[in-house]
Amino acid sequence: MNKLNVPRDISVPKVWDRTGLPSWSYHNSELLEIEKESLFYSHWQLICHQSDVSSIGEYITFDICKERILILRDDKKVIRAFNNLCRHRGSRVVADRKGKCSAIVCPFHGWVYNFDGSLRGPAKPSSFPKLDKNKFGLKRLDCEIWNGFVFVRLNKGPQPSVKELMMPFEEELSYYKIEEMVPAGDIWTQTSNVNWKSVRDVDNEGYHVPMAHPSLQDLYGNNYFDEPFVNGTSKTHAKFSGKAGRYWSVRNYKNLSTPAKHLPKKLHKSWNYFGIFPNAVIAVTPELVQFYQEFPISTKLTLLRGAIYRHKKENRKQKLARYLSNRIDQHAIDEDVQLTIWSNEAMEAKSFEGFFLSDLEYGIKSHHDHLRKIIPILSLNKEPDTNTVYNLNKEMKAKF
Ligand code: FES
Ligand SMILES: [Fe+2]
Repeated sequence: MNKLNVPRDISVPKVWDRTGLPSWSYHNSELLEIEKESLFYSHWQLICHQSDVSSIGEYITFDICKERILILRDDKKVIRAFNNLCRHRGSRVVADRKGKCSAIVCPFHGWVYNFDGSLRGPAKPSSFPKLDKNKFGLKRLDCEIWNGFVFVRLNKGPQPSVKELMMPFEEELSYYKIEEMVPAGDIWTQTSNVNWKSVRDVDNEGYHVPMAHPSLQDLYGNNYFDEPFVNGTSKTHAKFSGKAGRYWSVRNYKNLSTPAKHLPKKLHKSWNYFGIFPNAVIAVTPELVQFYQEFPISTKLTLLRGAIYRHKKENRKQKLARYLSNRIDQHAIDEDVQLTIWSNEAMEAKSFEGFFLSDLEYGIKSHHDHLRKIIPILSLNKEPDTNTVYNLNKEMKAKF
């Protein structure tokens, strides 16, 4: 996933395989372990915004598929990322989801760590006669701040830096001054009883908008267009339709929407979505920026997570518009949850013969292509025998 300055080919070919990933891949637990390793642990993950940890000692914790992350602002105001894992017995060194501390004190036996992760000292040091403190600091993780968003990567993977990855959208997103925004609420999470790929499949196409999202349809009309994933990122464009809006929230939102002064005209009256392979989206409206993402808990259970950030200064109209845009979006999120359930349950029905995708769903195909490139076993239509998935995938990858 490199060479990001070359023009993006976003065209849909005349002939393409419209079938999607095989059904077995939505409920195979051996595959899930490969997905965790090859995708979730080795691709950049958006954890929070820098304003979530705005002062020294503030922290956010989050678990990516059982691997624990701690984001903390140190005494030099630098944001750092560590494994939230005590070097003594592995306890979480910070138990809360967010908070502020003056030192990192493990709640199990009381080992104390400095904000740079180094071990200040164990409790009852005389009970560790040979402990070399230099060898027992918290493990640091790759961390990159991009437009104010804090990205972490557990293991090195195929992606370049976030900056390079997002280069095609750098200029457009710079207008929003995302790095100056502040939280409009807490980071939210909810679970859904589906495979994580069903969540992404639904989000990667707007073909369903006219039927399934009446409020969004009222907002955009036909001014909606999905670009496919190219080199690990995608974009969806949506402009407000010229109509007044049938729904109360849409009608009032269109009337109240007052873009910040720094936003150029071409970005007024538009909502845009930027996909980051494999599992995240940054979405912008004139009033706010949000991220949302999904993480597998099991083959049948997914954690949905996201947060909204607003301009630091907003007038009453902008605040109301933000409230309404959020209300419209919340309807769409709830509707999408239902769609993911319908899509996912089909994967367990023996009579289902797989997707047959429209040209307007090419975004799904491009995401699946990215997945197949990293996990080639996803191109097998028939489910591999038990205990063969890992080795078979390895062999296919070696030949790829
Ligand atoms: S596990 Fe952290 S001090 Fe014992
Ligand atoms: Fe949707």
